[in-house]
Amino acid sequence: MKITVIGTGYVGLPSGAGFAELGHDVICVDNDLAKVALLRSGQVTLYEAGLEELMMRNVASGRLRFSSSMADSVPQADVVIIAVGTPPHPITKEADMKYIRAAAIELADHLSGYTVVAIKSTVPVGTGDEIEALIHLKNPEAQFDMVSLPEFLREGYAVYDFFHPDRLVIGTDSEVARNTIAKLYSSFGPETKRLFVNRRSSEAIKYASNAFLAVKIHYINEMANFCEKTGADVTEVAKGMGMDERIGNRFLNPGPGFGGSCFPKDTIALVTMAQKNGVKMSLIEATVEGNTKRKQQVAKRILEAPGSGDVHKIAVLGLAFKNGTDDCRESPSLEIINHLLDAGISIVAYDPKAMKVAKQIYGDRIEFASDMYAALKDADVLAILTEWDEFRDLDLHKAAQLMNKLNIVDCRNILNPSLARANGFSYSSIGRA
Ligand code: UGA
Repeated sequence: MKITVIGTGYVGLPSGAGFAELGHDVICVDNDLAKVALLRSGQVTLYEAGLEELMMRNVASGRLRFSSSMADSVPQADVVIIAVGTPPHPITKEADMKYIRAAAIELADHLSGYTVVAIKSTVPVGTGDEIEALIHLKNPEAQFDMVSLPEFLREGYAVYDFFHPDRLVIGTDSEVARNTIAKLYSSFGPETKRLFVNRRSSEAIKYASNAFLAVKIHYINEMANFCEKTGADVTEVAKGMGMDERIGNRFLNPGPGFGGSCFPKDTIALVTMAQKNGVKMSLIEATVEGNTKRKQQVAKRILEAPGSGDVHKIAVLGLAFKNGTDDCRESPSLEIINHLLDAGISIVAYDPKAMKVAKQIYGDRIEFASDMYAALKDADVLAILTEWDEFRDLDLHKAAQLMNKLNIVDCRNILNPSLARANGFSYSSIGRA
């Protein structure tokens, strides 16, 4: 099949490369000319495990191409997938639809023959109807069906998730469109569940899923606070809870709060959408509020690291919002660093992948170290804020020799507490003594 993917971000690029690997003929379109030029020259514009190899292989086979022109890519497409960003609107806090609308208006003129137009971006319930009307208005002759095709990829695992989805949710009432999308994924076996629903349900499933996971994280973070006060160990509590299949063991890792380009914006957008519809979503409202406070609480904990006395310099390991990505959007680490900077602390930071992105944000307001040990030199506290595997292997003996004062605040519970203490550190983590 011929596929055009509009938007080459964290969703569009892995999906486009994935569809090419499945044997489809894919053109990824972006209106950022510089980005398209980089992609055409073989450079991957974001970090995602396995993406570079996947892209190179499919570019070489001729199944994956990049373009800035809808005129060159939309007319021949069987399926046009919209995967542009829906960042929070600066005033309303709802998903900002300007990129979706702009893409729809531009593609409308180029639709030729029957085409399925599928929205992969996370969009408010009812967006499919709005965009369908917009395309009709712009091009009354166009023969197309609008489909909601929400994406459940996790950053850092996007390539893996593309090929191993838990489920495919396909929102449309059109039989032809259902069959077209089913064909798109026909190489996935029966183990991949396909759920055909109406378009609005499909749009709602995406928000409902992300908000539920965000609530789960907020829940375990509050449970961690409770464990700290009562002498329980949240890791053991999460393990015990997770053994109940009704609860499940995933997304029960406590930490510095959830971040990224999805959970923070989607929870706020859902609360706002619900309010507009006269519905109160108190659980999600509490999650949004709790997650905001979480970062202040964690910053305070770092500043008050036991035994630290005066804190002048803090080594931060981890800038990305989670491991496996260079994405720093809504990263708890950056928000915590901002609180620490406000308190007059000098920060030296290291992240295996997100240094370039963070340098653009901070300039020379913080120091960037060349590796994790360089970050520790003369630091009064080590704060671990992202759960990169290489931090798990930190040589604590070496760390103790480098630091000025021996304090670790492990906000991802990745170090061995007894080993840290045996090396002379005052060690604190989340939700356990
Ligand atoms: C999330 C969803 O997991 C994907 O299914 C969805 O497709 C995506 O949003 C999206 O809407 O595009 P992502 O934002 O990449 O994916 O990251 P997650 O792995 O879900 O993590 C989100 C945040 O929660 C991170 O800050 C992470 O550190 C935090 N988290 C996650 C925890 O603090 N504890 C956990 O147990 C799990």
